[in-house]
Amino acid sequence: MEVGIDGIEVWSGKLKLDLPGTLAPERGEDPEKYTKGLGVKESSLPDAHEDIVTMGANAALRLMKRKDLEPEDISRIDVATETSFDNSKPVSTYITGCLEKVYGRGRFKNANQGERKFACISATQAIEDACNWIRAGVNNGKKALVISSDVALYERGDPGEPTQGAGAVALLISKDPNVVEIEKEQGYGAADETDFLKPYSYFPSVDGKRSIEVYLDRMREALEDYERKAGRVTKDGFARATFHTPFPKMSRKAAVLGFRHTIKDTEIEEELAGQIGKIPREDDYENYKQFEEELEEYTNNLGETEIFRDWYEQVVEPTIQLAALTGNWYTGSVHIARVSALLEAQKNGKEMEDKSLLVGSYGSGAQAEIHSERICKKWKNEMEELNIEEMLDNRYDLDFDEYKEVRKVHNYSEEADVESLTEPNDEFVFAGHGSMGERVYEFA
Ligand code: CAA
Repeated sequence: MEVGIDGIEVWSGKLKLDLPGTLAPERGEDPEKYTKGLGVKESSLPDAHEDIVTMGANAALRLMKRKDLEPEDISRIDVATETSFDNSKPVSTYITGCLEKVYGRGRFKNANQGERKFACISATQAIEDACNWIRAGVNNGKKALVISSDVALYERGDPGEPTQGAGAVALLISKDPNVVEIEKEQGYGAADETDFLKPYSYFPSVDGKRSIEVYLDRMREALEDYERKAGRVTKDGFARATFHTPFPKMSRKAAVLGFRHTIKDTEIEEELAGQIGKIPREDDYENYKQFEEELEEYTNNLGETEIFRDWYEQVVEPTIQLAALTGNWYTGSVHIARVSALLEAQKNGKEMEDKSLLVGSYGSGAQAEIHSERICKKWKNEMEELNIEEMLDNRYDLDFDEYKEVRKVHNYSEEADVESLTEPNDEFVFAGHGSMGERVYEFA
């Protein structure tokens, strides 16, 4: 049975922060650190009437309407987020509460709903569980909805500030999917790490440099585990390699390590030996530090070779184009990378049917997961329906004072009183707090 992603919708926060133009001068940083060093240009941020519920509900409503779905067609709804505001009531019931304002009260009463947490990897885990639920044949012919929704803000002045972003991705999981079939083999790399956490606080506590190392270590373990299950990954085995993209240059760091892994003990390693030497092997060194330094030097040189650059241009670069304009959407980030890859192919008339994607997800704390996907016949029709580029073009361009002001409303404080900068139009909006402190939503 083929099971996978049948439809995707994306909802961006309605505000835009120009990173090199507006944020860099205020932080006293070189704009090229952002554009060249991190690979970022713009962040999507939420307006005062937006939050994880409105963005998730708006993405889900658009997906349901486009796929002509009734609530009874869906009997499993998982919302993945690391920006939750309640330790008991799940975001999924807030979102179905919104959707029932359109479809009618009680229409989702037989859907199994939950909120998923494992940093940025939890939407991938929810997709995996939804696929297995269908494969097990206990779905009674119904489909599953996985929604990722996050507002990724850092403390003002934090090194993570230029990587911020906010948005939601809604994914419909079913058999005989239109977009991608998800293969069964999954590789995992997991460890108890304190690289990035939010200990009951709105803003994360981050060890940025360590978080990069942990990301790459877990990704390597996941790749090795994946290969034990699915066979060796080769450089030409995948049309695109999509990674969790906290900032685009992170995907490049993952890509060059992945590439190094795929060429080890192959003709390509031999061919490159005259130019950059061979990959240093740990067994050849008595001093581990020296081995690490030489491996790093080899990897940096590999990243400059023509063979790597050509491969990167074709296999990875299309996956990071949207992330440069959206920023980090945490749980949605790897799913934006998939959209970015397919959208680029659709716009440039590239044929992708039956080709494979390698998908690498990561969640701090920490775990990576790698699997492959086969692109389905109707992928192009699904991409033609997306309006993410129009949404990004229509965002309100914040000046720095507006940016500082609108941030105040997004730590879920009940006191903040900030006017919206955009006019809601046919969408769910945050409308204040109820008597038990609950958040209240309307369709505007
Ligand atoms: N021109 C060009 N490039 C420049 C430059 C300039 N003027 N100035 C600096 N650079 C380069 C640096 O050389 C560096 O490149 P390399 O990584 O290739 O060495 C890059 O720009 C970034 O510079 P710094 O390392 O000095 O940047 P920083 O210390 O201020 O912050 C960061 C970088 C640690 C990633 C920070 O943005 C951060 O903490 N981000 C949040 C954590 C994060 O995203 N971690 C990623 C892995 S964890 C994860 O994936 C989970 C998640 O979603 C958060």
